[in-house]
Amino acid sequence: METSERAKALPYDRDSVDHVLTTTRSVRRRLDFDRPVAPEVIEECVEIAIQAAPGGGEARPWHFVVVTDAARRAAIGELYRAGFRRFAGQAEEGGGRPMRPVIAHLAENLHRCPVLIIPCIEGRAEGEGQGAQAGLYGQILPAAWSLMLALRTRGLGTAWTAIHLQHAEEVAALLDIPDTVSQATLFPVAYFTGEDNFRRVERPPVGEVIHWDRWQSRRPPTSP
Ligand SMILES: Cc1cc2nc3c(=O)[nH]c(=O)nc-3n(C[C@H](O)[C@H](O)[C@H](O)COP(=O)(O)O)c2cc1C
Repeated sequence: METSERAKALPYDRDSVDHVLTTTRSVRRRLDFDRPVAPEVIEECVEIAIQAAPGGGEARPWHFVVVTDAARRAAIGELYRAGFRRFAGQAEEGGGRPMRPVIAHLAENLHRCPVLIIPCIEGRAEGEGQGAQAGLYGQILPAAWSLMLALRTRGLGTAWTAIHLQHAEEVAALLDIPDTVSQATLFPVAYFTGEDNFRRVERPPVGEVIHWDRWQSRRPPTSP
């Protein structure tokens, strides 16, 4: 079947799906801190997200800690900023790239986001091998990405962040997250201001990121 005919036969609009996949990205400057977010919208997005969560066997090890309480958001904001300062300091000392101002902007304002979501997974893999780590986080990261997509299609912006994990234990204590559970990321969530006009970004040509059959081979096989 021709690609266009195949697309017509799909039970969804592929162009729209591709558009969401290619233009969903971090939103920081356009977060509307003053517009409330209804809990039902978050529930709907998480319900969608866990459809994409692969779990080992019958395991249902996913958890989403949704923080709306102002005092807890403020405390997480403090910890995030402490992590950010350390991270920025290390980057400067190591002669690395300076942090982009937009990263600092989010750090300064994290607590103002009406909702913070921490996708978590049951299990800990610190000090374990690659298989255990990939096996653990592989169960939650697809759901986390789906959550970003679902939030976006409802007018909500977020960013993939992990700076708070420098203070993961304190965040866990603050939110009563058991020490048998790992935090995967933290999504600051708020409605985005303006239109949904997010665009594709500059990425390397696909030939630079694909390895065909072996690492050294960058040429695709000839089509059958
Ligand atoms: C594992 C991981 C952790 C990250 N942690 C943070 C973070 O804590 N704070 C932040 O502002 N950006 C963080 N980023 C960067 C962004 O979320 C994002 O990847 C980057 O801004 C590029 O976004 P874009 O391609 O969507 O524009 C992190 C990215 C990754 C992959």
